[in-house]
Amino acid sequence: MAACKTSKQTPQIKKGDGLFQLFVEDENQDAFVSDKAGVFNEHGMVASAHEEASKVGVEILKKGGNAADASVATFFALAVVHPFAGNLGGGGFAVIRDADGTPSSLDFREKAPLKAHRDMYLDENGDVIKGLSTRGHLASGVPGAVDGMVQLHQEKGTMSWKSLLQPAIDLAEKGVVLTEGQARGMNRYRDTFREINGEDTPYYVKADGSDFETGEVFIQKDLAESLKRIQKEGADGFYKGKTADLLVKEMESGGGIISHEDLEKYDAVWREPIVKDYKNYNIISMPPPSSGGVALLQLMKLTEPYPIDEWGFNSGKTAQVMIEAERRVYADRSKWLGDADFVKVPVKELMSQPYLQERWASFDPSKASLSSEIDGGDVPYYESDQTTHFSVVDKNKMAVSITTTLNGAFGSKVVVDGGGFFMNNEMDDFSVKPGVPNMFGLIGNKANEIQPGKRMLSSMTPTIVEKDGELFVVAGTPGGSTIITSVYQTLLNVLEHGMSMQQAVNARKFHHQWLPDKTYTEESTFDTEALQYLLSAGYEIEIGRRLGRMDCIMVHPNGTLEGASDPRGENTSVGY
Ligand code: GLY
Repeated sequence: MAACKTSKQTPQIKKGDGLFQLFVEDENQDAFVSDKAGVFNEHGMVASAHEEASKVGVEILKKGGNAADASVATFFALAVVHPFAGNLGGGGFAVIRDADGTPSSLDFREKAPLKAHRDMYLDENGDVIKGLSTRGHLASGVPGAVDGMVQLHQEKGTMSWKSLLQPAIDLAEKGVVLTEGQARGMNRYRDTFREINGEDTPYYVKADGSDFETGEVFIQKDLAESLKRIQKEGADGFYKGKTADLLVKEMESGGGIISHEDLEKYDAVWREPIVKDYKNYNIISMPPPSSGGVALLQLMKLTEPYPIDEWGFNSGKTAQVMIEAERRVYADRSKWLGDADFVKVPVKELMSQPYLQERWASFDPSKASLSSEIDGGDVPYYESDQTTHFSVVDKNKMAVSITTTLNGAFGSKVVVDGGGFFMNNEMDDFSVKPGVPNMFGLIGNKANEIQPGKRMLSSMTPTIVEKDGELFVVAGTPGGSTIITSVYQTLLNVLEHGMSMQQAVNARKFHHQWLPDKTYTEESTFDTEALQYLLSAGYEIEIGRRLGRMDCIMVHPNGTLEGASDPRGENTSVGY
């Protein structure tokens, strides 16, 4: 593997004892948001958005559970300790590589309720009613998370279901010590919670309206009871019986349309993962209804012919190729991607060599392409994102990569009364009207229009990389439309620029999504030379975003695991 070469001669990787070590000179820190070091362990690793959830997963691994068991336990722990995005009322995707190398993927994405229809967020003039698909009861799709975990356990798990739910129940019942981020998040949304759930919003607003404090113990009794019903009855403990009654009652009380029939009919689905080579690596990622896998592989294959390792990390020429690839891939996403159970998605064609070559035909390195000439449109951008990702590797090198979401922070902000959990606002991931951007500024089309029972298009990109046939990297992140580009850059940082896992996560990132025709960067992503190169070629650059909250694991040549959790959040890797 090549040592990391950057436009600033920044970080170098020292290779020794079969381990790639993070080594960053003080004066060269600019290329990274932090010098946070990876966590190195021999047997097993969980990297997630919250230390408590990672610890829960590792305890399961220590007890002999495999990566699927640990994932289930981590998932439910995140529902308790990370209510921004961890969930019972949302959905997600899992990409799995068994210990023998068999890849698979599980789709537990939410579905449009049976009473949903194409124009449900439009007024009588056909205009989008602002906020209807993002806040409140009508914004929710039918949750898939619980069935996803049940199916993951049934197909791949080894420990008792009961034992995997117990840690989350304990956390909800005995309480979680609030981190600074968790307290701040709940305080920030207090008024919105009240607006939607009333002055007496349970749990997430204090009775006296005061702030949550860092270090305070936060108890969620109703959530503990919901978890106990799932522990006792599996999927039926959520999709039928008391929790289903509470959820439907909550929907009816606020004009939502999720019914008992929707809940009873929900099914997570095992799907053929996207698997494609990149040089001597093999990339395994999520197929539709996520756009993540197709888009990631398009990006990687578009980049493959260019010597970006020689050009250097975040140099002008490297960034230009990546931005132009992103422009073309997000235009494709808008046109072609949707739920393949409902619309024809040309997955193979989009990733084929002739097609990708044709996509490069309009690329002129002397100047920026124009998104308006790649495809139409011109839009505003962005509200918020709250998804969460975690990665797990066990002692036999079975790996699970899971991204799960409520969509926005705390989803629709609706708390199921008596159930103690938030509902998603995933309906906004549909194209509510062709050409009108969603909250991530993503434009959709017919392929992603609302239909009853259909799954909304996602950008979630849980991914696993093999090197020479062996497990190498497990990766993923939240970040709405920026998920795909953050995973893309993190992989290139490792595969092309020779970074360790943590270094690749710490590295500053940029993002282009076709429309608007702008490149968003973190502070100091490009040095003066790179910036001048891009500006003189006509690229519009907007500096100041925070991109990615990755949770990744790398297997080093001697088998050591490196857990790499993003310094941009409270993310923590725990291993043993
Ligand atoms: N809700 C964000 C996504 O699925 O892409």
